[in-house]
Amino acid sequence: MKKLEHDNHFKKLQNMYIEKFTEGEKERKFITEKKELVNIISPGRVNIIGEHTDYNLGLSITAAINKYIFITGYKNGSDSIEVYSEYLGDSGKFLLKDITFDKSKHWINYIKGVLKEYVENGYKISGFNMVIDSNLPIGAGISSSASLEVGVAKFIEELFDLRVSKKRIVEMCNSAENNFVGVNCGFMDQLSVTYGKKDYVIFINFKDLSHEYIPFNIKGELILIINSREERNLAHTEYNERRKECDEAVRLISGIIKERDINSLSDISRELLSEVKDKLPDKIFKRARHVVTENERVLLAKECLLDGDVKKLGIILLDSHESLKNDYEVSTDRLDYLVRELGKINGVHGARLMGAGFGGSVISIVEKGIANEIIDIIGRGFLKKFNDTPDFIECLPSDGTGRVLFMD
Ligand code: GLA
Repeated sequence: MKKLEHDNHFKKLQNMYIEKFTEGEKERKFITEKKELVNIISPGRVNIIGEHTDYNLGLSITAAINKYIFITGYKNGSDSIEVYSEYLGDSGKFLLKDITFDKSKHWINYIKGVLKEYVENGYKISGFNMVIDSNLPIGAGISSSASLEVGVAKFIEELFDLRVSKKRIVEMCNSAENNFVGVNCGFMDQLSVTYGKKDYVIFINFKDLSHEYIPFNIKGELILIINSREERNLAHTEYNERRKECDEAVRLISGIIKERDINSLSDISRELLSEVKDKLPDKIFKRARHVVTENERVLLAKECLLDGDVKKLGIILLDSHESLKNDYEVSTDRLDYLVRELGKINGVHGARLMGAGFGGSVISIVEKGIANEIIDIIGRGFLKKFNDTPDFIECLPSDGTGRVLFMD
């Protein structure tokens, strides 16, 4: 259980819960005096480096961040689930025994998907009411969806006193997103949100989901996310397309190199890839080169973080962006503009597009003192060029999803 750092959010949520879901004085008293409500805080995530490597069983360095979804709720004695989202100003209700995809209310599918996983895996749960709030922007590429999924998983674990390992939570939430919501994502988002640790980044090997913590010991710096506000219209289809191209690369390369077991692009070295280059279609070669070199960059970035060498880390981030732009072809004009212009500002240590691409956000590591200057310079330039204003989100590595005790 966590020490309460977010009193105001939860006080507001508790009051909202009482207002929305409790009727009689007696019931209100029970909730407030016995402090039975389950309060969950669930972070977003950033990816420092290692893009499009998760589904290729490669490497990434990520962090949970101090922007959160807040959940408060309690059992309602029935078999229906009732949810109110203060952030969206919307609500939904469904029966546990009848969990079906909701075409008109997309956000509720993340909750439904997770519950369906728990029900199908035999966990004993019953109905509850829940209110949700957030200071984690949706659609900025900082994983509000994984944050909600893992938050709901933790909520029902606490509410029904279930014993579920973190690894299992990651697997079930990932399955909910792939099999219920229908987004073919890798494990990066759910894993980072679940395992986050304050002041640390997470070095992940997706081959076995093993991970280790590296101190974010670049104390004078913070992580600045800049949301291009470009809608990621193509992200879904193109994302799945890239996954298929990577599978094709593995199929072709393992057909050429028969004497070695090649199960993913992360089994391939740069040398091996150059040996087979002439036998691969150019596009497939480029996709494979991105993954192979990105894994190398993650290892280099790990060294930089351990040494506190933020300058070198910045150069690696820029290289990653070039590879995502030229080899993986997932960048856009807006993202390229942000990376280029950020690179001109003193005190900015590199930048690159973050997440799937085709819009969304850029991540940069910047000196704490210059965030306002960046917001001013980039904000004005971006407005002039694109007639739009990006969002700036300053963040630091935070703890993963957990329960908060209400101490009022
Ligand atoms: C999206 C997916 C992740 C990962 C990234 C690209 O954010 O949800 O699983 O594949 O794209 O690195």
